Amino acid sequence: MLNIALPKGRLGEKVYDMFEKAGYECPSIKENNRKLIFENPEKEVRYFWVKPSDVPIYVERGAADIGVAGKDILLEYQPSVYELLDLNVGKCRMTVAGKKDFFDDGKRTLKVATKFTNIASDYYAKLGRDIDIIKLNGSIELAPILNLSDVIVDIVETGNTLAENDLEVKQTILPISARLISNKASFKFKSGEIEKIVRSMKEQIKDL
Ligand code: PRP
Repeated sequence: MLNIALPKGRLGEKVYDMFEKAGYECPSIKENNRKLIFENPEKEVRYFWVKPSDVPIYVERGAADIGVAGKDILLEYQPSVYELLDLNVGKCRMTVAGKKDFFDDGKRTLKVATKFTNIASDYYAKLGRDIDIIKLNGSIELAPILNLSDVIVDIVETGNTLAENDLEVKQTILPISARLISNKASFKFKSGEIEKIVRSMKEQIKDL
């Protein structure tokens, strides 16, 4: 059995469809219930839904052999896993955003609100800019509006959240997409199965 950790939510459903088209279907997963684990013994796969930011933890510790995680999560948490493939879905970008009238004149410490403290710290360290990091867990866009921070470092997909809150992108830090990752030991001991999945997933990506 190959254990596969999928990120719960829209991206996970899209990625499951890719696994299905690649020949690793598990029809019970489409039944709308609260179950978290689904298996297809014939195809020797077991899927489970986990919180997107937890996927690397399951994979790093071997509870899952492979999984799908956003590049944002991988950069932020630096798990010890192999990154096998860019799945070319879940595309968005990591950005610095702020109020339209905000301009960083560099004269005082910049207050940065974010979920991604490591990505933000690295980015500003490379620029040699002094910052004060404010770690938040969601609704990051509120921070500059309420003057909790000067800017935010966050993900932008459609740009709707920023637009609806009168904020704008100031800088793009890097592009993000979903990656197929593997546990290091599994990659050694289940290399045949994993490589087969990677090959079939590559075919899906070509057709996107
Ligand atoms: C993410 C991100 C932005 C939004 C961007 O939030 O933190 O708020 O999506 O998407 P858009 O550019 O398409 O509007 P998420 O939905 O994960 O919620 P949370 O961070 O507030 O928990």
